[in-house]
Amino acid sequence: MGKFNIPRTLAVLFTIAAVYGLVKWAIPAASREITALPFPLPVPGTLVFFYMVLTLVAMFMLVTFSDRNIDEFMGPVWRFMRGDFGKAPRLAALVAIPLLVGWQVYDAKQPKVELPSSLRIQHPSSNFPKQFEEMKNPFASPTDDEVQAFLEQAESGEVEFIEQVQGDVDVWIDEFDENPLVAIATAPMQKFLADLEAGNVSPETAKAALVEKNLFEGRALYAMNCRPCHGDSVAGDGPMADGFKLRPINFTDNGTIETIVEGYTFWRVANGGPGLPTEATPWDSAMPEWKLNLTEEQRWKIIMAEYDMAEKTPRIPESH
Ligand code: HEC
Repeated sequence: MGKFNIPRTLAVLFTIAAVYGLVKWAIPAASREITALPFPLPVPGTLVFFYMVLTLVAMFMLVTFSDRNIDEFMGPVWRFMRGDFGKAPRLAALVAIPLLVGWQVYDAKQPKVELPSSLRIQHPSSNFPKQFEEMKNPFASPTDDEVQAFLEQAESGEVEFIEQVQGDVDVWIDEFDENPLVAIATAPMQKFLADLEAGNVSPETAKAALVEKNLFEGRALYAMNCRPCHGDSVAGDGPMADGFKLRPINFTDNGTIETIVEGYTFWRVANGGPGLPTEATPWDSAMPEWKLNLTEEQRWKIIMAEYDMAEKTPRIPESH
């Protein structure tokens, strides 16, 4: 027995209080330091219960390990009950304990008045800047000049792709020594290539092919950036999706991107979860703030591919 021996009864009570304090306050406080979030991450109630039961079981085993331990633990309790520590504290404890139990039972049984749980608004508009409302995806309807430039590039066999895609396209060209547009196996592109071969391309055919090329780039950018959460099938079932309480949106669902104007989708993608107003709580959205990582061109191309893959069209602005 060491010099700084504390009575077993106190040690047991202190251990129980310390474990409770650790899971209830210390772990949340540490989580706040580690995650640098403006709020602590609480330990779930069931887990607190679990830890406390384990602690009590451990304490019970410690105390009942030997008769001497039991005596050491119970000694002060008996002495307290006999009034060795004074009659007033004993009376106070004997009154306080039933009162405390009674209060707990009352508190658990008393009907509570609570605010109705607020529903989350998926498409809040309180901070949606109006100038976005009328925005059109510039890559879905290219201008005549853009179509002309694309046609010239296609004729000379040197179509330029967006930077992130160009590397893969170059590898592909090296390997197959072929026009990279051949890889875009959609009907409008194949028609364009056939007409190009025959030297007879109409502006409409060239425009449709350019849109296909933009979609191709959008799909590649989607796979690089959005797929982990929103999934290959754009149904919100990517490999990371199960990790979020507020699930990534399923774009094939009728209540999502189909019900909003394109400019709204653009704004949502640009600002992500951090850009949402409070009506979009109670759960925080994990959707990243894409304006930090993607250019406007990249975002528009992804949005185009997103609607295309989901087989949806955006809502048309009210004034049209
Ligand atoms: C870390 C996971 C994650 C990634 C990566 C991610 N998202 Fe999201 N996204 C979410 C979550 C979660 C939501 C649902 C909550 C919300 O509405 O913000 C969401 C919502 C959206 C919405 C709102 C749809 C609607 O109808 O309100 C759009 C649009 C969207 N994502 C597009 C994208 C695009 C485009 C990318 C890639 C550039 C992307 N997301 C990448 C998690 C992610």
